[in-house]
Amino acid sequence: AEYDDMLKKALNGARFTKEEVIFLLKPEKDEMDALFQTADRIRKAVFGDYVHLRGIVEFSNFCERNCLYCGLRKNNRNITRYRLMPEEIVDIAAYAVSIGYKTLVLQSGEDSFYTTGLLCDVIKRIKERVDVAITLSIGERDFEDYRLLREAGADRYLIKQETSNRELYRKLHPGMSYENRIRCQKDLKSLRYELGTGNMVGLPWQNVETLAEDIIFFREMDADMIGIGPFISNPNTPLGRFPSGTVEETLKVLAVTRLVNPLVNLPATTALGSLDSFGRQKGLMAGANVVMPNVMPVNYRRLYEIYPSKICTGERPEACRHCIEGIINSIGRKVSTGYGESPKSLRRG
Ligand code: 5AD
Ligand code: SF4
Ligand code: FES
Repeated sequence: AEYDDMLKKALNGARFTKEEVIFLLKPEKDEMDALFQTADRIRKAVFGDYVHLRGIVEFSNFCERNCLYCGLRKNNRNITRYRLMPEEIVDIAAYAVSIGYKTLVLQSGEDSFYTTGLLCDVIKRIKERVDVAITLSIGERDFEDYRLLREAGADRYLIKQETSNRELYRKLHPGMSYENRIRCQKDLKSLRYELGTGNMVGLPWQNVETLAEDIIFFREMDADMIGIGPFISNPNTPLGRFPSGTVEETLKVLAVTRLVNPLVNLPATTALGSLDSFGRQKGLMAGANVVMPNVMPVNYRRLYEIYPSKICTGERPEACRHCIEGIINSIGRKVSTGYGESPKSLRRG
């Protein structure tokens, strides 16, 4: 009854405290469905039955960082590295648009081979050729770089906080700074990018309190998109001996994030789909309204190995496009034909 009252408060647009978010993250077994249904109701009130697709272009798996959890980390010698040349990136982007994507995410490790000038050129060439919204996901750069990329035509930027807990952030990210991560997100917002942040669920040393802090952090950052995925243990990393996160815990964080941030775009992530063959369906029924299929040619796919057992590594882009529409229709939803901009950014004008 107390849990149901809290869900009612969510439907009435309450602004929850951290203690309330912790409480929401701890439903009893028989309260879990009510949580997911409430998140689903809020999602439906904001977005209707439309699911937005974002095609991901994984254009380089080189990375200069050493995040403890990630298979692309610099010190991982157990991975074959590749870089796409600008022409290839533009061609893949144009092909993705031709099979029905209205938004693309250009993603890589932190790879300074791609100077800001080069990336500006790629963005301009894509936008000259096709009608598409462009999200960048290339890590930390300076304000001036972000400004130039925005000017070249980038519309959105995805840079996850991963964890909002300072000590845990430091432990997981050698040589990086919590403050700079936040500086990046603030710079991006001030440049009027649509901002994507997010976290991983089930990281070592994480607990329900730090997860509640993540959810409050997303609200304070006034993010447009929040990417939430399970941590998947990668044997080629220093965290390879820790257990992965679970589908259930990730769904709870996803649903509570929807209650606390009704207007954000929330993807049912590839990582969630990789832990459970129905993971993305479950996410879409617990608050998510976005899916981000891979649009890379098959020969590169298995090389972008952030974590093991990633889905879609053997599929062609058209196969994923078809598959994902089937998944969306099978749960009574529709693929959106728009760009899927954040309702917040529409309000900002
Ligand atoms: N499990 C799940 N997600 C991961 N990421 C990196 N490593 C892992 C992992 N082991 C995610 C992070 C990062 C993006 C590049 O991939 O959230 O933002
Ligand atoms: Fe590089 Fe991003 Fe992986 Fe960190 S999470 S090692 S920055 S690709
Ligand atoms: Fe790639 Fe289903 S989305 S196979």
